[in-house]
Amino acid sequence: MTAPHLKIDNLHVSIEDTEIIKDLSLEIKGGEIHAVMGPNGTGKSTLASALMGHPRYEVTQGSVTFNGKDLLEMEVDERAREGLFLAMQYPSEVSGVTNADFMRTAINAKRGEGNEVQLMKFIRQLDEKMKLLDMDESFSQRYLNEGFSGGEKKRNEILQLLMLEPKIAILDEIDSGLDIDALKIVAKGVNEMRNPEFGALIITHYQRLLNYIKPDKVHVMMQGRIVKSGGPELAERLEAEGYDWIKAELGIEDETVGQK
Ligand SMILES: Nc1ncnc2c1ncn2[C@@H]1O[C@H](COP(=O)(O)OP(=O)(O)OP(=O)(O)O)[C@@H](O)[C@H]1O
Ligand SMILES: [Mg+2]
Repeated sequence: MTAPHLKIDNLHVSIEDTEIIKDLSLEIKGGEIHAVMGPNGTGKSTLASALMGHPRYEVTQGSVTFNGKDLLEMEVDERAREGLFLAMQYPSEVSGVTNADFMRTAINAKRGEGNEVQLMKFIRQLDEKMKLLDMDESFSQRYLNEGFSGGEKKRNEILQLLMLEPKIAILDEIDSGLDIDALKIVAKGVNEMRNPEFGALIITHYQRLLNYIKPDKVHVMMQGRIVKSGGPELAERLEAEGYDWIKAELGIEDETVGQK
């Protein structure tokens, strides 16, 4: 296995003719954890959706390669099979599909026909990962995210991460709505994945998560692009001082995108 490599170059993304992502470049390699921070409405989730291939987000310029292949040419399921994973800010509820069935289907889709995971092995792994995340067994047989509390949905996204073992994961506000204990558990789940063959992009508003998941790089998004990058100390400064100093430094008045 080779280390994964996601390379985003001069990316521009529009939604219904409004440009949201404007000239964004970012590179993530195996073994690296990148955090993306930034005020509300600056394009963070749009970036995540565009990378995953959401049909409403149109890439108008730029390129994205994943392990040297053109990601933008791939269908959504191909992206997942290549090892890209997205934990969404607002996970959908799917009635009639149990959590366990959903995960087994996703794993098998990735492994391909004739190479399906053995049921017993799957159950054993699911058991083990649910224990690690301190999840009650009943969650495997509940319908996907249906009636899950906010924190339970987030924990379940991490369960999917651990079960699917992607090469690059994009985690959009995986810490929102978590109590302190759940935050530590979710961080434990992500840290469990840490190895040279795994990279992550963690979108968060709070430096607190980054106390538990140490990022290699921290990026700040404003106006649909990365306006500043640094190490973990950048997140600490943002926590203490907010975003005004960056806006002043760069002469930005309105940090949001879209409505202009
Ligand atoms: N499907 C859509 N239709 C219309 N506008 C959209 C759509 N998706 C995103 N936008 C707009 O793009 C801008 C950026 O949204 P995005 O969700 O990427 O922000 P964000 O940085 O993730 O914010 P937050 O921190 O609040 O989650 C917003 O003005 C939003 O309204
Ligand atoms: Mg968002």
